Amino acid sequence: MSVSDLSTLQAEFDEALSQAQSAADLKAVRDRFLGRKSGRLTALLKTLGSLPPDERRTVGAAVNALKQTFEARLAEREAAVGSPAPFEGVDITLPGRRPALGRRHPLTQVRERIEDIFAGMGYQIIEGPELEDDWHNFEALNMPAEHPARDMQDTLYLSAPMPADASGRRASLLRTHTSGMQIRYMEAHEPPVRLIAPGRVYRRDNFDATHTPMFTQVEGLVVDRDISLGDLKGTLQVFAEQFFGAGVATRLRPSFFPYTEPSAELDVECQGCGGRGCPLCKYTGWIEVLGCGMVHPAVFEAVGYDPEQYTGFAFGVGIERLALRLYGVDDIRMFYENDLRFLEQLAP
Ligand code: DAH
Repeated sequence: MSVSDLSTLQAEFDEALSQAQSAADLKAVRDRFLGRKSGRLTALLKTLGSLPPDERRTVGAAVNALKQTFEARLAEREAAVGSPAPFEGVDITLPGRRPALGRRHPLTQVRERIEDIFAGMGYQIIEGPELEDDWHNFEALNMPAEHPARDMQDTLYLSAPMPADASGRRASLLRTHTSGMQIRYMEAHEPPVRLIAPGRVYRRDNFDATHTPMFTQVEGLVVDRDISLGDLKGTLQVFAEQFFGAGVATRLRPSFFPYTEPSAELDVECQGCGGRGCPLCKYTGWIEVLGCGMVHPAVFEAVGYDPEQYTGFAFGVGIERLALRLYGVDDIRMFYENDLRFLEQLAP
């Protein structure tokens, strides 16, 4: 090593320093020349020991002087550039992370749509207990004990009845439908009545593609003087058009429920095929949407309304069923599995 090696090194250092722009560049220069492990000057210092003593002294002094020059020049530039910018080393062109947004469950959205439609027609929205007594779930709905219609629904009973309520009744079962809310409301209010009652109901069903032991219904009830089957039909047509779209075809098909006379089921033209027939509608062109009818006089008598003065209509919609039709889903269990990949598709 000679003093001319040192001047080459100095020239390299000057060149590197003149090109350094940022704090990171300056750090690279510092590492390259003064780094503890592989810095150029450090390496030179390590070779001093192999030089003859008098040469060692002169070269050593020159190397140390150079080291001080490097230090001083670097310090000067470092002070001018300042500390590293806060975003140094961060790729600001990377897409940001979106915060995850929650959304309402598809069944909640369907329920709210139904509520909005009927609220818009002046209906009151009420809720009631899921633990129910025999009177409200069956008896007052014209289904006395031993009535064969009780077999239509497989009831889940409590192992022991609940303590008596203010009217002395004991809840003994999980309600099998929301129809008991008709009774609860009429017992407490005089006509006119115009309500819907959404809520959970329970039946002894096993899980399969079309059944769950818990599901959701919306009950409807209208009572006044001179309410006719025409009012029922018109109301359901408005509901169907607002829910499925203007001009959708509907039909009332005769049916049986103990608490309505006459009773019917509302069918809506299949959305999957426009009524031509497809697997969704089992090639009938129609989708069954709800049960309904004119309130049976025995129901009015049970709540103390005079059937000579008042008439009314009632209906009951299954929300899961409606959601299956609306979204073209073929397995009801998917609504309860909480798979976000499924839910996010249905609930924008
Ligand atoms: N409660 C019936 C069910 O669970 C649905 C129903 C049918 C409700 C006719 C009504 C009605 O109010 O009038 O399947």
